[in-house]
Amino acid sequence: MRPLTAHIDLDALRHNYLQARRSAPDARAMAVLKANAYGHGATACAEALNDLAPAMAVACLEEGQALRAHGIQCPIVLLEGFFEADELDEIITGDYWSVLHTRWQVEALLARLAHWPRHRVTVLIKCDSGMHRLGFSPDEVEAICQRLQAHGGIEQTLLMTHFATADAPDSPLLISQLQTINTLRRRLDLPGCFANSPATLSVPAAHHDWVRPGVMLYGVNPLETDHAQHDDIDQVLKPVMTLQSRIIAVRDLPAGEPIGYGARHVTDRPTRVGVVACGYGDGYDRHAAEGTPVLIDGQRAGIAGRVSMDMLTVDITGIPGAGIGSRVTLWGRDASGAVLDVSEVAQWCDTIAYTLLTGIMPRVPRCYHQDGAFDTSCDASALF
Ligand SMILES: Cc1ncc(COP(=O)(O)O)c(C=O)c1O
Repeated sequence: MRPLTAHIDLDALRHNYLQARRSAPDARAMAVLKANAYGHGATACAEALNDLAPAMAVACLEEGQALRAHGIQCPIVLLEGFFEADELDEIITGDYWSVLHTRWQVEALLARLAHWPRHRVTVLIKCDSGMHRLGFSPDEVEAICQRLQAHGGIEQTLLMTHFATADAPDSPLLISQLQTINTLRRRLDLPGCFANSPATLSVPAAHHDWVRPGVMLYGVNPLETDHAQHDDIDQVLKPVMTLQSRIIAVRDLPAGEPIGYGARHVTDRPTRVGVVACGYGDGYDRHAAEGTPVLIDGQRAGIAGRVSMDMLTVDITGIPGAGIGSRVTLWGRDASGAVLDVSEVAQWCDTIAYTLLTGIMPRVPRCYHQDGAFDTSCDASALF
């Protein structure tokens, strides 16, 4: 089998979830598992967190259904709410907590609740406190809440917002959003659900009743790196995904030879090139710059030439032991224990870790490890 494998360390996932809880000790933490758990596989991740997380959050009902089909019974939050009224029967009867961000959703829910007199639902009223994506303006929220709370079918109303710049805790926009939402929360006396990962880690004033950590569960430090007080966070969070493949061919080239599409790289010295079975068809970013790091036997090597659909090429001149069959870690923790942070790779690709992780394609087999058994020495081929 093709050797490319995404190894998923479920112990690390649980560890990171507990770190989120430690960061916001007075809040409950819903595990954000949308986008296939940021590419890690939603059902396996949900199962691994099932005894820890009091609620899980996904983008939409379809993602929630996949978890329910797998036996997940805790409340499932729908972060974008519902898109059509015919989703409502399942939401009302299936313990889904929907975000409500537009008036038609409020009216559709209240109308549909009339058909289910014995059911009561929890909803999250989304307030646009300054990000200007989804939500009611702060002026509208009170009237919406009163309308909902007057209805016997509403069990609980949470106040929700989302921050645009929580990764920069001193930013004026974050300070303004916090002021707006905390004032509203005090006035309406509602439970609050405001904090994504960076706010969970570094903005206690945003914690309140529920936090919504996503990317930190997968071991990514979401804070801007110049926040010295969180320098230790990289040690505190453990990478969950290790993307690993092998060298499938080696070329020894003299100086002056091009490598790959567009001849972007031309060798400036005699160069040994390793061809690795991983490309943009697997989700590896085609924007990876010359020198983007990979790990081979704990040592760093750099990408030389453009990433193609199924392969990428690495300069292995400085790693004499590398050859056909050598394991190549594209990010994560390799068998020697060395770590290549997906955020570092993302910088080389001029993007963020979120896009690299969520972008790993279905054709890449996920290999799950738990109970202390993380071992990248098995390829996907060993699974079948
Ligand atoms: C509404 C909402 N809450 C929480 C999260 C989790 O954010 P993060 O992954 O930064 O923790 C997201 C992610 O995009 C989101 O859209």
